[in-house]
This record gives sequence, structure tokens and C-alpha cells, in this order.
Amino acid sequence: MKILVTGGAGFIGSAVCRHLVKDLGTAVVNVDKLTYAANLDSLKPVSENPLYSFHRQDICDPEAILAIMRSEKPDAVMHLAAESHVDRSIDGPAIFIETNVMGTYSMLEAARTYWSELEGPARDRFRFHHISTDEVYGDLPFDESLFTETTPYAPSSPYSASKASSDHLVRAWNHTYGIPVVLSNCSNNYGPYQFPEKLIPLVTLNALEGKPLPVYGKGDNVRDWLHVEDHAKALATVATRGEIGHSYNVGGRCERTNLAVVEAICDILDAQLPRPDGLPRRNLISFVTDRPGHDRRYAIDCSKIEAELGWTPSRTFEEGLADTIRWYLANEDWWRPIRDKNYAGQRLGTGSTKT
Ligand code: NAD
Ligand code: DAU
Repeated sequence: MKILVTGGAGFIGSAVCRHLVKDLGTAVVNVDKLTYAANLDSLKPVSENPLYSFHRQDICDPEAILAIMRSEKPDAVMHLAAESHVDRSIDGPAIFIETNVMGTYSMLEAARTYWSELEGPARDRFRFHHISTDEVYGDLPFDESLFTETTPYAPSSPYSASKASSDHLVRAWNHTYGIPVVLSNCSNNYGPYQFPEKLIPLVTLNALEGKPLPVYGKGDNVRDWLHVEDHAKALATVATRGEIGHSYNVGGRCERTNLAVVEAICDILDAQLPRPDGLPRRNLISFVTDRPGHDRRYAIDCSKIEAELGWTPSRTFEEGLADTIRWYLANEDWWRPIRDKNYAGQRLGTGSTKT
């Protein structure tokens, strides 16, 4: 089995590459443009493995993608490459439309030609797995039930609208051209190797350095958290055993307010590495101007993937968060160069205002 993974140098893509190569013995062809969010150091655990290979390539070039497909002959594509940060999409939406919409279109066109050239078992085996987000379902009121696979799409941000568009393209290419696709929509991931502009690594590293911990609005927005290694296992399951044309919601059954997450990080860090002055890190929490159009809540019903494919999250948030914080403490060589550039915790573009 050989899988072409796009975005394999990113947070989730690198976890997928590590899982496929190291745990499952699957050959991986990683195709990544290496944007600001990429880090080849996240692939050190597999980079010397003969099962792993890398092409630096923009997915928005369908001819180049088709050439890679023809030469590498993958059995499946797992398409993760995307612009992924909501705040960046608010400050500069163009690249989100380019990468997430046009890039997915380009991947689908390359896959359509490649698949049409396959014969026999290779053609039957081929799958195009599109990796998407729970944000396509939009703003979930606090008192409403969870997102299921049939919840209507209602994206709120330029990011989620671009991902919703890409999901529609994938379904249309299946319906019209018959390409064997599967989709998955996942909740918020956390874990090692996450770029420190996202809430959990940003707050962890700011707390470590005694800097303010920016909480948007009142901190009462709710997210459903899943460890990235559990997500990688779910993705491998969907790619290999998902039913053609189906989508699968993936989540951690773990809803937390943002304030609760930030407080948990403070308490875990205080226990693992007390501040020299002995003060609690909760003192660093700083309520700042809210994200425009901030969705109140996301919450996933993952009973379909559990019942049909037998996947289930393996760790609790408390265990996973403590492990993640331990990982950041032990891997300063991974995050220090990124932090030193400019990502020290301000909202991008407009900057945060303390409230
Ligand atoms: P990330 O930002 O960490 O990584 C994205 C990767 O895509 C990077 O390596 C980047 O270089 C690559 N990339 C971007 N544009 C490219 C292009 N034009 N051509 C080739 N490569 C390109 O993202 P992530 O958090 O790992 O998310 C991966 C996927 O999972 C995305 O599709 C995202 O929408 C989806 N997702 C993320 C989460 C989450 O919590 N992070 C949750 C659900 C779904
Ligand atoms: O739900 C899945 C999505 O989760 C993915 O599709 C996205 O790619 C991923 O980035 C993530 O989106 P969020 O916007 O939920 O993640 P982020 O880490 O940016 O923010 C989590 C919550 O914390 C959100 O409600 C905004 C808030 N927040 C974020 C930052 C960066 C803060 O309060 N302060 C911050 O500094």
C-alpha cells in the first residue's frame, strides 16, 4: 500500500505520515509546498525510512501533481494540504481561497486523470480521502445537539467557507465523474508539533515564558478537543475502510470552554515546572478583543465512525494535555526557531486589545 499525503509537513499531516510509516508499515509520498506552517523537523522520525519520500510541490499545479501521481503510483490520496488558521483567514482570505478551494480542485482534476488511467485492482482500490473540519457546520448554540454527518453546512469564517467549498467540490467530483472519494470532518486537534499560533501551543509557550495568555472575548466559546495521534488513526481507518461517497465525523467527545483549557494548561505547567516566583500562571490570563464572527461552539457526534469503522478516541483530554505540555518542555529545539521569528502571541494583523 502506498499513500500520497498532501500537507504532510504540517501538524496533522506529519502525524499521519509518522503513523502510516512507523505503525502501519505503509509507504508514504509526502507532497507539500512548505509554507510558514510546515516543518520538516516534524518528519525526522520517518525521514530516513525507505517507506517515506518527499516532493516539495504546490498542490495548485494540477500538471505537476499528475506527474507525481503517474510516477509514484499511489493506491490512495489523503488530501490535508490547506491554510488552516482562522485568524489568518480573517486578515487575508485570498490565500485560503487559492489553496483550499483551487488547490482541492487541482487535486481532484489530477486524481480524475490518474484514476481514469488505472486498470483492474489498482482502479478498484483507489481512494481520494479529503480531510476537512467540523467548522463547515458553523456556529452551534450552547443548547443544541451535536453535529452529525447530515447537519447542514453553514460556515462562518473565510477559512470554514473555503473548507466547505472544497467538501462540495469533492462530493461533486464523486457524483459527476465517479471518483471514489471519502471525507472526514474533525474537531480541534492538539498534541506535539502544533504550530504555536493555535490556542494550546501558544498559551503553553507564553505561560512558560511568563507572557500574557490571550483569551478572546469572555473565554466561554466551546471547542471539542481530540489528540492528533487519535485523529491520525481515524484518518488511516477512513482512507482504507471508509465507504465510498461517505463522510465521517471525528471528535473527542471532549467539550471545553477556552477559559477551562487555558486554566488547565496553567495548572499542569505549574505542577510540571513551577514559576521561579512561585506565583500561579493563571495570573497571566488576559481577556482580549474577540475574534470577529467567533463561532460559539463546535461539538461532534462521532458515533458513525465508532459504530461502522470501530474507531474511538484512546486518551482523555487531561492525559493528552499533560503529555503535550511535557513534549513542548522537552522539545524547545523544535519550537524555539518558530517563536524567535515573530509568533509570540498577538492576534495577527489587527493585534489584540486587552479588555
Ligand atoms: P497546518 O497548517 O499545520 O499544515 C498545513 C500543511 O499544508 C503545511 O505543511 C503546508 O506547507 C501545506 N500546504 C499549504 N498550502 C499548500 C499548497 N498550496 N501546496 C502544498 N502544500 C501546502 O494544518 P493542520 O492543522 O495540520 O491541518 C491539516 C488539515 O486538517 C487541513 O486541511 C485542515 O483544514 C484540517 N483540519 C485541521 C484541524 C486542526 O485542529 N488543526 C481540525 C480538523 C481539520
Ligand atoms: O474545529 C476544527 C478547527 O480547529 C480546524 O479546522 C482549524 O484548522 C484549527 O485551527 C482549529 O480552529 P480554531 O479557530 O478553533 O482553533 P484556534 O486554536 O485558533 O482557537 C481555538 C479557540 O481558542 C477559538 O475559540 C479561539 C480561541 N483563541 C485562540 C487563540 C489563538 C483564544 O481565545 N486565544 C488565542 O490566542
